[in-house]
Amino acid sequence: MSLRTQVGIVGAGPAGLLLSHLLQRQGIESVVVERHTRQYVEDRVRAGVLEQWTADLMIETGIGGRLKREGMYHHGVMFRFAGRTHRFDFDQLVGGRCIIVYPQNKVVADLFDARAAAGGQVITEAEDVSVDDFANAGDGATAKIRFRKGGEAQEIECDFIAGCDGFHGVCRPSIPAGALTVYDRVYPFGWLGILAEAPPSSEELIYAYSERGFALLSMRTPQIGRLYLQCKPDEDIHEWPDERIWEELQLRLASSDPKWKLTEGKVLQKGVTGMRSFVAEPMQYGKLFLAGDAAHIVPPTGAKGLNLAAADVVVLAKALKEFYATGRREQLDGYSAKALRRVWKAQRFSWWMTSMLHLFDTDNAFDRRRQLAELDYVTGSHAAQQTLAENYIGLPME
Ligand code: PHB
Repeated sequence: MSLRTQVGIVGAGPAGLLLSHLLQRQGIESVVVERHTRQYVEDRVRAGVLEQWTADLMIETGIGGRLKREGMYHHGVMFRFAGRTHRFDFDQLVGGRCIIVYPQNKVVADLFDARAAAGGQVITEAEDVSVDDFANAGDGATAKIRFRKGGEAQEIECDFIAGCDGFHGVCRPSIPAGALTVYDRVYPFGWLGILAEAPPSSEELIYAYSERGFALLSMRTPQIGRLYLQCKPDEDIHEWPDERIWEELQLRLASSDPKWKLTEGKVLQKGVTGMRSFVAEPMQYGKLFLAGDAAHIVPPTGAKGLNLAAADVVVLAKALKEFYATGRREQLDGYSAKALRRVWKAQRFSWWMTSMLHLFDTDNAFDRRRQLAELDYVTGSHAAQQTLAENYIGLPME
């Protein structure tokens, strides 16, 4: 069977679904093709922090109903180290802008619902997805997304393809070798993350630097906590029974305030994720445009991944709008350069947060002192606090 659309989108994660949503509001047709089931995509446990502009975008484009009810607006974030707890006060530092704790699972569910309500086509459980005939940016053959659904071969002809299929997706590797330059750094540690039936012990996130390694206290709802521990990149989760996880969290998140207590609870889910910084440039080739994790990965320490994916598709949607309205290609041609400016600043920030807060086994006693001095500086200087805060809540969209 053959279909025709304007923009074929590979991947129904936040990037693909948000792009489809934005395009529809601009009167541009799209079809989303996804390898997994909706349930699978929705259940993937990912980060949960929205920069304010991302939340505003959801609200302004009509998909913010649940976000407004359930999103937790945070006006500050905490650093804990050397027995001290420091609060970065966003009201004071960045004029009241904030972050919203709202899990990616819910963002994805809201987007799936919005696509369904608008009659948008999202084809899930597509097997053997491939992308073809996209090399020629201008005229020539239409680009194609091919796949099998229920055993039947299908093809979608498109003016453009958006590769929103994540780091392990098919789109990036379909670009000829040699056309992309890859920048990559793998960190010598990972995060062991848990979801726990334990009300968060702090109203705001706590990033903790300790001699035992990094820890993070975050949350999903007022009843469900999300906590992380720095671990080995190949850590065997079976060596981490729940009691050991809580014991380690207690040590790393310990406060000098005797009134503070880390509340424990039933562990609902646990897993280990590796950490890397990765960028593939350019983010476009002919009629194929990469967005989100298909083009770049950040370590989770700055909570930037989802927000960067959203920023990419905002730039791409605008460029497509101009193309369909006027036939002009300047914005499309400039997509990669524009998206990458934000990507690299978020890369720098995520790398910096990661480097400042984690223990590296190649570091020596000097490096530990240097890290503590950096934390002391970052929490002590108004200028440095402002720098951290403006990056953390998200740099302005150009
Ligand atoms: C999360 O809640 O999953 C989370 C929060 C902040 C981060 C990373 C992950 O920096």
